[in-house]
Order: sequence, then C-alpha cells, then structure tokens
Amino acid sequence: MTSAIPVIAIDGPSASGKGTIAQRVAEKLGWHYLDSGALYRVIALAGKQHGIAWSDELALATMTGGLDIRFERGEIFLNDENVSMAVRTEEMSRGASEVSTHPAVRRALTDLQRSFRKLPGLVADGRDMGSVIFPDAETKIFLTASAETRAQRRYKQLLEKGNHANLASVLADLQMRDARDQGRKVAPLKQCEDAELLTTDHLTIEQAVQAVLDFYAARK
Ligand code: DC
Repeated sequence: MTSAIPVIAIDGPSASGKGTIAQRVAEKLGWHYLDSGALYRVIALAGKQHGIAWSDELALATMTGGLDIRFERGEIFLNDENVSMAVRTEEMSRGASEVSTHPAVRRALTDLQRSFRKLPGLVADGRDMGSVIFPDAETKIFLTASAETRAQRRYKQLLEKGNHANLASVLADLQMRDARDQGRKVAPLKQCEDAELLTTDHLTIEQAVQAVLDFYAARK
C-alpha cells in the first residue's frame, strides 16, 4: 500500500538550498530522492527542442505524456539523452517557472512524481510536494531563507562555476520567480498548515539536514 511508504516533503522557494538538503537527508536515511523541479526543467527543455512555446499549455501537456524521463544515479535523462547540465541553465530556470504555471502540464506530471514513492521511503523536494503530490506525507517541511540570503548563495555558486554574475540581477531574478511561484493559480508555493517552517539564513547545510532529520524523528 502506497500510504505505508514514508515521505518527507520539502517545499520552498528557489535557491533555498532544499535540493542539497533533501538529497543529503535521502542519503542519510537510505531513501529515494525526487527533484520535482528537474521535471519542470525537462519540460521547458523538451519544449524548446520541439519548437513549442513555453506559453502553449496544451501542446506542452500533450508532449509531456510522450516523454521518457528517468533519473539514474543523480543524473536526469530525457529519451536516453543525459540532460543534467542542459536543464540547469538560467534559461531553463525561467522556462521551468513558466511551464509550471500550466495546470495541464502539472497534471501530466502527477503520476510520474507519485511513482517515486517506493520503499524504504522518499524525500521529495519542490513547491507542492506536501500540498498536492504527497498530501499524506507524515513529515512536511517548508524550507526558506530571505531573498537576500538566497541571492548571495546563488551569486557565490555562479562565480565558483566561473560564470559572470551580478548580485543585483540575481536578486531581481529570484524575486521575479518567487512572485510567479507564489502567485500562480494552481499549486502556488505556500507553507502548508501542517508543515514545519525551517529558515536557513543562519544554518549550515549540516545543521539544516539535522533539523529535517529531527522533525522526522519527532513525527515518527
Ligand atoms: O526547484 P527548481 O528551481 O528546480 O524549480 C524550477 C521551477 O519549477 C520553479 O520556478 C518552480 C517550478 N516547480 C513547481 O512549480 N513545482 C514543483 N514541485 C517544483 C518546481
């Protein structure tokens, strides 16, 4: 029975560190991990490859049903092509933010996301893991940090990867994406009533991982 399989749902805004934290929690517990944002990024990339505009809800949803999307050892594959790097660009961040506003696209990805719920458990990160995809998850966490902290972290990452970056435009971009994720009609980003708030401005990654594990242990 699916509901017997535990889920830790971690939702929060862009660059809150939820991907890194969710992945480490999954490793520590020996559980599966779902990066749901990567799926929206793949849809944006596949849309571009097929010449479908990110505003074209029906064409994107129809296309989504025919895609073969797989995760293997932390890498993501689209129809056997490793697209792990291609989906991480700023262009695909914008595309994912746009395609994820469409209800039909979200519906087309629902079953795929739920199929990741396998024993011994799943750590899932995204925007609607606790509210829509796994509403019966026993542990729900809303992981966030101020826009300034998140922009600083993203800016540092970009510089470390050798990219040219400008702090003010990184911050403006994050704020635009926050507004879109929070303001959309379907599955907007918000803290569920039954989610624990975890603010990471003053936490290291290890401390945040431990806080998630403590929430889980307390709920078990
Ligand atoms: O977590 P991320 O930055 O990789 O997500 C990319 C975009 O996908 C983000 O703008 C919001 C969207 N998204 C979503 O709508 N629902 C999810 N469960 C995960 C991501």
